[in-house]
Amino acid sequence: MKKIKLYKMPSASETIKTEIVCANDTNPMGLLQGGRLVEWMDIAAAVCAQTHAEKICVTACINKVDFFHPAHIGDIITIRANITRAFNTSMEIVVEAFGREVTNKQKYSVGKAYFIFVAIDENKQATSVHALNPSTQKQRDQFQKALQRKELSEKNKLIYS
Ligand SMILES: CC(C)(COP(=O)(O)OP(=O)(O)OC[C@H]1O[C@@H](n2cnc3c(N)ncnc32)[C@H](O)[C@@H]1OP(=O)(O)O)[C@@H](O)C(=O)NCCC(=O)NCCS
Repeated sequence: MKKIKLYKMPSASETIKTEIVCANDTNPMGLLQGGRLVEWMDIAAAVCAQTHAEKICVTACINKVDFFHPAHIGDIITIRANITRAFNTSMEIVVEAFGREVTNKQKYSVGKAYFIFVAIDENKQATSVHALNPSTQKQRDQFQKALQRKELSEKNKLIYS
């Protein structure tokens, strides 16, 4: 019997994770360490990917990690993960982190990264995921660019080998 492909909306898997920068997340100057932020981003991205795929997913690659503004001890960090495109077994998830001081509503941009997650089956082999149905113009732009980034990443493999 032929399997019917299920299309899901990006909004169905949008994931928000909130943290407070504590002493053990910081360097000696009280600034959030990059590795800790990436760890938080990875968790938000994993929840997003697994919600879309409805399967266990693993991080295959983290692309273009940018840190824009330092976050200080006590600041509240909000991390937003959105799926940009589902390929065959892999998905691209864009993750953005924003910070704010407790006493100030003004948000600042802490960082952004693109994650590739792969859905795996019970034998830990890559397995297919639902297709994505982008609905807004921003989602359609990201959907298009995700394919370009995948193609670029394939080419870059040779440079990093
Ligand atoms: C990710 C993993 C499942 C891929 O398995 P694989 O046998 O290499 O799978 P394939 O070569 O068939 O690739 C499967 C998909 O992953 C993508 N992929 C695999 N490695 C990738 C990478 N480094 N960057 C981007 N995409 C990658 C492929 O493009 C392919 O995508 P598609 O099916 O949507 O076109 C496997 O390498 C793995 O388990 N890695 C460890 C993951 C892990 O433990 N992460 C946590 C870090 S500690």
